[in-house]
Amino acid sequence: MRNYFYTTIFSVALVLISCGKANEKDAMATTESGSNTINKKVDSLLAIMTIEEKVGQMNQYNGFWNVTGPTPSEGGAAKKYEHLKKGYVGSMLNVRGVEEVRAVQKIAVEETRLGIPLIIGFDVIHGYETLSPIPLAEAASWDLEAIKKSAAIAAKESAAAGINWTFAPMVDISRDARWGRVMEGAGEDPYLGSKIAVARVQGFQGDDLASPNTIAACAKHFAGYGFAESGRDYNTVDVGTSTLNNIIFPPFKAAAQAGVKTFMNAFNELNGVPATGNAYLQRDILKSKWNYDGFVVSDWGSLNEMIAHGFAANKKEVAELAVKAGSDMDMESYAYVEELANLVKEDKVDEGLINDAVKRILRVKYELGLFDDPYKYCDESREKEVIGSQEINDAVLDIAKKSIVLLKNEGNLLPLKKEGQNIALIGALANDKTSPLGSWRIAAKDSTAISVLEGLQNYKGNTISYAKGADVTIGKGEFAIELNINTTDKSGFSKAISTAKRADVVVMVLGEHGFQSGEGRSRSELGLPGVQQELLEAVYKVNKNIVLVLNNGRPLTINWADAHVPAILEAWQLGTQSGHAIAQVLYGDYNPSGKLPMTFPKSVGQVPIYYNYKNTGRPKLPAPNEVFWSHYTDQSNAPLYPFGYGLSYTTFAYSNLNVQVVSKNEVQVSVDLKNTGKVTGKEVVQLYIRDLFASVTRPVKELKGFELVELDAGISKTIHFVLTEKELGFYDNEGHFIIEPGKFNVFVGGSSNTNLEANFDLE
Ligand code: BGC
Repeated sequence: MRNYFYTTIFSVALVLISCGKANEKDAMATTESGSNTINKKVDSLLAIMTIEEKVGQMNQYNGFWNVTGPTPSEGGAAKKYEHLKKGYVGSMLNVRGVEEVRAVQKIAVEETRLGIPLIIGFDVIHGYETLSPIPLAEAASWDLEAIKKSAAIAAKESAAAGINWTFAPMVDISRDARWGRVMEGAGEDPYLGSKIAVARVQGFQGDDLASPNTIAACAKHFAGYGFAESGRDYNTVDVGTSTLNNIIFPPFKAAAQAGVKTFMNAFNELNGVPATGNAYLQRDILKSKWNYDGFVVSDWGSLNEMIAHGFAANKKEVAELAVKAGSDMDMESYAYVEELANLVKEDKVDEGLINDAVKRILRVKYELGLFDDPYKYCDESREKEVIGSQEINDAVLDIAKKSIVLLKNEGNLLPLKKEGQNIALIGALANDKTSPLGSWRIAAKDSTAISVLEGLQNYKGNTISYAKGADVTIGKGEFAIELNINTTDKSGFSKAISTAKRADVVVMVLGEHGFQSGEGRSRSELGLPGVQQELLEAVYKVNKNIVLVLNNGRPLTINWADAHVPAILEAWQLGTQSGHAIAQVLYGDYNPSGKLPMTFPKSVGQVPIYYNYKNTGRPKLPAPNEVFWSHYTDQSNAPLYPFGYGLSYTTFAYSNLNVQVVSKNEVQVSVDLKNTGKVTGKEVVQLYIRDLFASVTRPVKELKGFELVELDAGISKTIHFVLTEKELGFYDNEGHFIIEPGKFNVFVGGSSNTNLEANFDLE
């Protein structure tokens, strides 16, 4: 019925338009077989829109009432509802589930003058109801195919729930583990970050955006959000052109080139200008230099936040500055819907700017196929079949295993023996079915993750004795500030100690609760929250055979554990299948292959800490006891675990590093990799370069290639890389990409601290 309605009005209308007699609804018409491009359809539609309707497309509202209950008649909700009926809303977020989405879409399509469908946005960050690992964890897999698959599965599940646009991937680079949102990104490196950005965009959007299983993606937060001063969320960002061009921009540019349909700007100011009102970012870089033709949505209320920033005096100025700067859609500031039409009528804003924004938005709606069938994401039977299906659970388990990083394994304590062991399982997080879901889990129900306890119970050959020991936080609700207040209660210690005493092996699951990282959850300390460190030391006194399983959304300072505990597994927050993934790795049914996407510091004072730092004029101790060099007097410069680091149940040896310069656009590098251990394993072979002398100084190491290689025990393989201008060049301080002749080092290995080195000269 719906399809028929649309096809009919669309086909009639083109004829009418050409005769100059189009009525409003007909003007949107199109025929699938016609030669009109989407741009032509958009132009035809734009031509019949009033200024209020155009501005309406630029207005996005959060879900504001229970759409299946009575309609709102009072207050803010009533006003939003009125706007929806008038066609003054172009998009809604946080409306989800087929029934709800259908209800709002019906108003937009059937009750407004033009019937333009809504685009329905949602934070599908690492899944919808069934969750993959948090993005930082996924990045630790360095497995681009698996990451792409994870995004594709998230798209499929959310699309089945009526969603057609995700606010992901977050491609902000960050070097500061204090920042709570590092959990949502791919870590500290622009090369890895760019590859992952592309994989995730391709996963969400697929090959055909009009397919009912794909959704539009959004590269966020443009730009600099991950460089918040002191790691405090929303804080000031002040960075120079070199960092901006070489570190912050690359993943955004890669996402744009991969065809990401939308961008989101950011809460932060960048060098004195809020990102939302920043014409340099949105117009000069994104829309001009990169020729980007998708649309930019603001962050939540970020237009209005420009008043608190001290950039705009009132809402009218907010709207004017944001639209001129290139923000196309206003998320929840009500600034465009209230002010823009008047600004145009008063000649303060050129209608051409509005037209450009609206065209960008309509284009994406056309590409999603919403004009052909606005209810294409609203199929109850598909919703039932897809959400939580076996296919989706299998996919999230697969990426969860691949995201785990083995940090230490002294005396091969891992993998655990499958029979006859008495295992003590300790820590509140070991029995937590909510924390592994992380903080971005709006559609996931509480207690739906597999806990470590449940995962271990699948293996029947051993005896598991569980003792909580201590809670991590005292809070309960998702947004409760108490979640970041740690309990001091040690009453569970004695049971944990007596359980540990009797055990052959102690598995301790410690770290941060899922709600202790994420937006607004920055930390000034990076140790184990609460009394968990004391618990760990108390248990260690009675049984040193400890496997520490870390659950956390950011790098932690775990120096004591590294010095004492024989085995450490970084298991992040792994999503719905967390406990199964952890158990399979603990028992060796999956050989860990993850590598850290972010440096682990030894102390908070080292932060920001990252592997691709600059050398300084005084990088090395000049003489014994000399003080005047770039260092700390109370801590070494070295991190606890470097970027790219991670062990396996097997071992790998590298040899025969070879470099051949064919031209300045082709440097061939090869290396031999051998599995020198006893079991099959995967290694992420990493290639770094250093441009020794340049007109803008270059980092001591920069990742420029990697390959995930699986080898059986005893087997060798030669791995090949080719470095082109793209890898050998860099952005100068004017933002030009240049390549300079001179001396380069190449490093290859299984971590950024590899010493296997060769050199070459570029003519
Ligand atoms: C976050 C965005 C998110 C938006 C919508 C904001 O608070 O910064 O990343 O997409 O909310 O939920």
